[in-house]
Amino acid sequence: MNKTSYLFLLGFCLLAGPLSAVAAEKVHLSEAAMEERLNTVRQDAKATEAAIKAAQKVTFFCANCHGDGGNSNLPEVPNLAGQNASYLLEQIHKFGDGRRRNEFMQGLIKALSDEEKISVSVYYASMGVKPAPVTNKALVAQGKALFFKICQRCHGEAGRGSNKIARLAGQKFQYVSLSLTRYRDGTGERLDPLMAANAKILTDAEINSLATYISTME
Ligand code: HEC
Ligand code: HEC
Repeated sequence: MNKTSYLFLLGFCLLAGPLSAVAAEKVHLSEAAMEERLNTVRQDAKATEAAIKAAQKVTFFCANCHGDGGNSNLPEVPNLAGQNASYLLEQIHKFGDGRRRNEFMQGLIKALSDEEKISVSVYYASMGVKPAPVTNKALVAQGKALFFKICQRCHGEAGRGSNKIARLAGQKFQYVSLSLTRYRDGTGERLDPLMAANAKILTDAEINSLATYISTME
C-alpha cells in the first residue's frame, strides 16, 4: 500500500466510526424503497436542496478521491459529477452487497446510512462534469464512429445514459478504458451481462479511441 492510500484509509477509519454509529440506529430500507425515496426527493425542489446540503457532511471525504464537486483528479477514479442519480444509488447498492468489487468502496459504503446514500446521489447528480479537452482529433473521430455504431442505443446519442444506465459523457479516460477492459475480460469486479456482451467485441485500440471520445463528450 502506498502512502496516499494509507492516509485515505486512516481518514476512512476516523470517519467510519461516527457514521456507522448513526447507521446502526436506523432500520435499513429495501433497494426499491430507497429508489422511491430518491425519486420523491428529486421531484421536490426544497427536499433536493436539503439533500444537497446534507450530502456535504459526507462528500468532503469522498472529495479526497472523487475531487471537489465530483470532478476527479485521479485517472482511475471516476467523475461522479453529472452522473445519473439512480445509477449512482444502484452502484452504491452493488458495492454494498458485493455485486461490484472494490475493497475500499465496499468498506466505505457500509458506513453510510440510507439517507446519506440518497443525499450523495442527489448531490453528485446536481453537479456539472468537466470534460477533457480534445487533443487528438483523428482518435476522437474514430471513437465517435464506434460510439454511434455500438453504444448510443443504450447510453444515448449524447452519452448521458438514463436511470440505471451510466452517463458516459465527460468520464475519465483511464477509468473508462479500465472499466471496458474489465467487462470485456470478465475479471469479476463488475458483472453486467449487457456490458460484457458489448465489450467482448472490442479490441484494445477500439477501447482506446472510445475512451478518448467519451472523455471529451459534454
Ligand atoms: C480512496 C479513494 C476513494 C474515496 C475516498 C471514495 N471513492 Fe468512490 N470510488 C473510488 C474508486 C477507485 C472507484 C472506482 C472503482 C472501480 O474501478 O470499479 C470508485 C467508484 C465510486 C462509484 C461508482 C461510480 C461509477 O461511475 O460507477 C461511486 C458511486 C462512488 N465511488 C461513490 C463514493 C462516495 C459517495 C464516496 C464518499 C462517501 C467515495 N466514493 C469515496 C475511490 C474512492
Ligand atoms: C445494451 C445496453 C448497453 C450497450 C449497447 C452499452 N452499454 Fe455500457 N452500460 C450499460 C449498463 C446497463 C451499464 C451499467 C452496468 C453496471 O452496473 O455494471 C453500463 C456501464 C458502462 C460503463 C461503466 C460506467 C461507469 O461510470 O462506471 C462504461 C464505461 C460503458 N458502459 C461503456 C460502454 C461503451 C463504450 C459501449 C459501446 C461499446 C457501451 N457501454 C454499450 C448498458 C449498455
